[in-house]
Amino acid sequence: MARIRVGILGATGTVGQRFVQLLDGHPQFIVTALAASERSREKPYEAACTWRLPGDMPVATRTLMVQAPEPPLDCDVVFSSLPAEMAGPVETRFAAAGYPVLSNSSSHRMDDAVPLLIPEVNAEHLTLLDACRGTGRGFIVTNPNCSTVMIALALAPLVAGFGVEAVAVTTLQALSGAGYPGVASLDITDNVIPFIAHEEEKIERETRKILGHLNGGRVTPADFAVSAQCHRVNVVDGHLAAVRVRLARPAEPAELGAAFAAFSGTPQALRLPSAPARPILVREEPDRPQPRLDRDAGRGMSVTVGRVARDTVLGHRFLVLGHNTIRGAAGAAILNAELLVAQGYLEPRR
Ligand SMILES: NC(=O)c1ccc[n+]([C@@H]2O[C@H](COP(=O)([O-])OP(=O)(O)OC[C@H]3O[C@@H](n4cnc5c(N)ncnc54)[C@H](OP(=O)(O)O)[C@@H]3O)[C@@H](O)[C@H]2O)c1
Repeated sequence: MARIRVGILGATGTVGQRFVQLLDGHPQFIVTALAASERSREKPYEAACTWRLPGDMPVATRTLMVQAPEPPLDCDVVFSSLPAEMAGPVETRFAAAGYPVLSNSSSHRMDDAVPLLIPEVNAEHLTLLDACRGTGRGFIVTNPNCSTVMIALALAPLVAGFGVEAVAVTTLQALSGAGYPGVASLDITDNVIPFIAHEEEKIERETRKILGHLNGGRVTPADFAVSAQCHRVNVVDGHLAAVRVRLARPAEPAELGAAFAAFSGTPQALRLPSAPARPILVREEPDRPQPRLDRDAGRGMSVTVGRVARDTVLGHRFLVLGHNTIRGAAGAAILNAELLVAQGYLEPRR
């Protein structure tokens, strides 16, 4: 099959650069269009973008001219990593113009017609797109907030195996989650900031949509409460979450560990190019997971669980860690796109 041509909106940013890096040499996708703010436009990518990832900017994108994030763009599908305040209407315009949109931003995640997708967890939610088939319109598929994705991934085997009645989460979130330049160094050095705008509400509502059930063409959210408290910490990449959970039936911590380790989903069955062999890795050491040591597990696409134990308040607790710009952002959107290809929702536009 000819490779599918990709346009990246917000291509010069923290997530946009991850897209460019992860799509370099991808077997199904090729980057053909880049868009960013007025500051970057009409310049080749290498002049518009200060490359901040390890390794060099991929050669194939260096000379692409940065354009405005408006249709038409020379591509078959759009990956969006625009700031939330402008992503909503821009993504709507691309979908209306016939483009499939894979979005990182929060603007459309809770829309009834929009799948909020983790391919290992709720691949069946893609059927929300069936209403668009044959209409000539495009569609929007979103990946979750960068903390929600790892929390929902870890909860999925517990929901399936034991039932979940309540969840309380405390996050310790990396600096790159705030984009570039993000939090001022004088604010975060020697400090923890106990506030990330809108983050707690996103984790609370997105987790329930992802783990919810399809019901008459929309998703009924999972019926357990989720409570989240979020903190920005002085770590470059890798969000850590301490999770307490009340299960519907008694279970030994070892049973939870076994359920995490055995968890697998559609991407693994289909051997999608970005799918990690194991979506959830379990560490037994008492001091893992740690951001520096565990964020790159499974090329940044696995989450790592550790410290699975009894909890005196809710019954069980554990830690989960994931790479926020890979599994939490660009890698998640690319895995979503690979699932769309495998299930016939995405192909080169004629
Ligand atoms: N960072 C993460 O870990 C993460 C994880 C999940 C989701 N997200 C979401 O992904 C999105 C991007 O986040 P980020 O961290 O990559 O942010 P970022 O580093 O600040 O990058 C923002 C990008 O958007 C472009 N942009 C800004 N204003 C624009 C405008 N008015 N018109 C067109 N383009 C504009 C910027 O272009 P210029 O360079 O030209 O200014 C840049 O390419 C946000 O919605 C964020 O919530 C981020």
